[in-house]
Order: sequence, then C-alpha cells, then structure tokens
Amino acid sequence: MTSGLARRRFDTLILGAGGAGLRAALQLSRADARVAVVSKVFPTRSHTVAAQGGVNAALANVTPDNWHWHMYDTVKGGDYLGDQDAIEYMCRAAPKIVYELEHAGMPFSRLDNGRIYQRPFGGMTQDFGGEQAARTCAAADRTGHAILHTLYQQNIRARTHFFDEYFAIDLIRDAEGVVLGALVLEIETGEPLLIEAKTTLIASGGCGQLFRTTTNAHINTGDGMAMVLRAGIPLQDMEFFQFHPTGIAGKGMLITEGARGEGGYLTNKDGERFMERYAPHAKDLASRDVVSRAIATEIRAGRGCGPDGDHVMLKLDHLGAGVVNKRLPGIRDMCRTFLRIEPAETPIPVAPTAHYVMGGIPTNRFGEVVAPAKTGAEDSVPGLYAAGECACVSVHGANRLGGNSLLDILVFGRAAGKRIIDYLHDNRNHRALDLDSVDRAMARLTRWDRVGDGEHVADVRAELKRVMEDHVSVFRTEEVMREGVDRLLALRRRMADARLRDASRVFNTARIEALELENLTDIAMATLAGALARRESRGAHSRIDHPRRDDVNWMKHSLYSLEGDHLEWKPVRTKPLTVETFPPKERVY
Ligand code: FUM
Repeated sequence: MTSGLARRRFDTLILGAGGAGLRAALQLSRADARVAVVSKVFPTRSHTVAAQGGVNAALANVTPDNWHWHMYDTVKGGDYLGDQDAIEYMCRAAPKIVYELEHAGMPFSRLDNGRIYQRPFGGMTQDFGGEQAARTCAAADRTGHAILHTLYQQNIRARTHFFDEYFAIDLIRDAEGVVLGALVLEIETGEPLLIEAKTTLIASGGCGQLFRTTTNAHINTGDGMAMVLRAGIPLQDMEFFQFHPTGIAGKGMLITEGARGEGGYLTNKDGERFMERYAPHAKDLASRDVVSRAIATEIRAGRGCGPDGDHVMLKLDHLGAGVVNKRLPGIRDMCRTFLRIEPAETPIPVAPTAHYVMGGIPTNRFGEVVAPAKTGAEDSVPGLYAAGECACVSVHGANRLGGNSLLDILVFGRAAGKRIIDYLHDNRNHRALDLDSVDRAMARLTRWDRVGDGEHVADVRAELKRVMEDHVSVFRTEEVMREGVDRLLALRRRMADARLRDASRVFNTARIEALELENLTDIAMATLAGALARRESRGAHSRIDHPRRDDVNWMKHSLYSLEGDHLEWKPVRTKPLTVETFPPKERVY
C-alpha cells in the first residue's frame, strides 16, 4: 500500500495548531529545527481561539501575589489529585511565560499604570486561602484569540511549515515502539500523506464533542488521545471532565468566568444569590466543580429558571455598560447574536456545560509521553511528546481552575519544545520506516469507504453524545453509568456497520466525521470506565453513591487501555520540586 504514497520528512511533526502546538513549534523553529504543524483547520481557528477569560500568572499587578500561593490554589482546586512537582513547575514558570508573550506582541489589556490587566477568577486566593486574588492576565475577554494570533505570526516569522486542513489518521511506530511520524490526510483532496519525523508532538486539544451541549468547537474530537490509545498507550484520569458553570443554556457557548470575575453573580428563580449558601467565602468565584454542582442542585431542587426550570441567571446589569463594553465585549456580542439581549441590561440564562477534560495522554513535566513499563515503573515512549488539553501532566488533578488551561498550553508547549531540541541533538538521523505500521494506518482510512443504505455515521454520533450526557454528567451513580456502558457497547457494534451518506453527496468531510466518531467512541469508553471504577467523589467526579473523597484508597491516577477496556492505577506525585507538600485537607471555599 505504501508504494506511491506521498512522503515528507521533518525533524518534528506537531499534530495540532492551538496554543500548545504553536508554542512548541516556535521554540523548535527558533532553534532551526525543521518543524511541520498539521492542523484540521486553519491554525488561527484552533480551539485556543475560544478561550476568553485569561491566563494565570502571579504578577501581582492588582493584588499581592506569588507563585507559591498560585501553586496552593491549583493543588486545592484539583482536589489534591494533581502532581505537585508539575504544579510547582507550572506556577513558577507562569510570570516568565506571560512576559515572553508580551514581548512577542500579545495585546494584553492594560491597567492605568501600563501594566498587564489581571482579573479575579475562581479559586484564586492570596496567602494560601485568604482574600480573593486577581491573577488572571487578560486581553479583554478574547485572551485565547490574542494568544493564538501572536503565536501564529511569530511562527510564520520563524518559518514553521504548516499543513492546514490535514487530518491525522494514526501514528507510525516501529517494532521497538519508537514513534516515526504519522499518516495524515489532506482534507480537500482526500489524498494521504506520510510525514516522517524524528519526533512527534501531539497537541490536538480536547474532546468536548463527546457531549451534546458543550463549549467546545466541532473540531474537538479527541483525535490525538484516541491515536495514542490505538498505539497501545493508556490514557490517564479520563473520568475527570469539567462542566463550566456558565454555558449559554441549551446552546453551550461559553460565558467567561471573567464575567463573574468582573462582579457578575448567579441567581435562581427566586432571585436568590444562591452561591452564598454553597461557598460563603468565595461565593460565585468558588472553583468550577463547586459552582456547577451548586447550579445543578438548584435546578434539581426546582429552583431553576425558565419554563422548564433548567437554568439559572447570570446577572451583569448592575455592572453597567461601561464595564461590560470594556472588559467583556465578546460576551456582549455573543449575547446579542445568540440571545438577542443586552447583557448590561438583561441577565443571561446559563447552565453547566461540558468544557474541558482534565485527563489525557500521560506525560511528565518535560512533555514526554510516559507509559507504565512492564517493571511497574514508567518509561517514556521514544520520539513521542504531548502537550495541552490532550495531555495529562497532571497539573489540574480532578478539577482545573479557570485560567490555568492557557497557562498549561504555554508552559508545557515550551517545555516539550525544549526537550525535543535535546532529543534531536542526540538523534540526528531518521530511523527506517516501519511499513507494517503504515499499512495499519492506511487500513483505517480505507475502512471508511462504506457508503449508502444502513445506519448513518451522523446518527450514531448524535446517539453517542446523548449517552454521555445522560450517563456521565455532573452527578453520577453506578447504576446510571452501567446503563451508559451497555449503550456504548451497543453503539460500538453499530459502528461496525455504519455508513457514510449517499455516494453522490459524500465529501471528504463525511469520511473525517466517521474517523472522528471512532475516536470519540474510544474516549467515551475511557471516560465511563474510569468513572465507574472510581468509587469516591473528587473534583469534577461527583458520585451520589460515594459522596465523599477517599484519600486512603483513591489518591491515585487511573490509566485506561483500549485492549480489553483495561484499567490500571498509579500513585499521585505529592512531592513538589523545592517546597513542602500540600497535604489533602477538606476543600471549602
Ligand atoms: O471562563 C473562561 O473564560 C474559561 C477559561 C478557562 O477555561 O480557563
């Protein structure tokens, strides 16, 4: 199958052109490595563009601050499941990474004294749990947009090579497990292309398309994560999926936490500011899992708003048009477009909405993909790296704090880039291609030539989203999740016969949707398997039948492997690099 297959060779192949991929690419291109970035969409349409509120760094421009407080908040926000060495590394690196961006031309909002504007965000405190901190560096409410454009332009300048609108099919590995690049597909022509690379970085983002109502773009189908599963490498902590408290009700578009950071607050149908009951100190700026559970509880108790009582209200009208126009112009525009309201006058209907996966491809803090070795230790997978939402370092533990995602992609994109440069110094030549591996990847492509009568891929995909929403949402129980597994197993069987739509109407995108559906299905199983197995409540994983956190039995990461839907566990790294451990404590806000 490989004869006649178009081939290109690079030092590094990066799958994904969001913030993590572009930050790594910049590090590498500036070091004169030959870098290929493959993206399903034009790079500046990657999902980083949708990040609104900001990036956390203890700059102390607005309130007193330091990285150690940021670290404490992140460990606590993650409900003590995060690896504290990686968290220390990230929080210490944050100010430098933000100043690097500033010097690269990033148009941050400014304070009157010219310094970078920082807003309060959920779970951010001064002095280890004291007063609210303003730590989130913002470009109005379009911070991700500004980051992505800054990094893209710098990459063009550094001569990074882009393959726009290419879809990654599978990794290519040799018999020793060394990753040699990937098979990709040019979406416009449907032609496959083999990209050989000495190193491959997966930076393909999250998998929010698992759920029907999501803040995530249509491209977020977990392609990189599923590719790793197919390569026999497990995914870590997939049971932890974050529901953002404020997606537009029934539609899903993100209303940034920055809206509450600027002083907005939530009310129920009685007009009550209910967060005062759930988080007396932090109120509406408690961490996301706490706020989402509070909203879901209000709705379940019959205190939701609207004819179906299925949402609550986010009030911004008391802030005035000045604040809304200056700090939240994107939210104003979104409310006008999708709700036909002025948020400076009318409250916004919001509900918890699928937003972010804390789990992903297991990596260390250098971006190397690590998998359990036969010895029980961990081995890095030669030539393979991951960064950003698709990776699990794990800095977010069981629940990510808002503003730590843009930080994660920048810090670990850069760290992976640096590590790859070291690897390239020691590994100067391409290895021999493994033709069997290429054939296996090609077979994945040709499987989706099935067209015509029978169940359509789009229908199976819609059903998958319903399964996830019905069976593994904000609150979970054993019984409901078991039903979910049964429905998912049935879906897997139906997938084997599913068809693309009628030949005359098939575009290459139909085949891409089928490949994405395969990816989503595997990730859905990873999520359900982890969630069923973890018999405790921690962070975003909230089990009605096991309502308490259990540090004796569950201070460990799950590792899900596709083969046999198998689960293993590994301990949390509680030891930071230079400071004392933050031991688990009761988590109150
Ligand atoms: O609410 C937001 O602006 C989202 C930020 C984040 O997920 O980090």
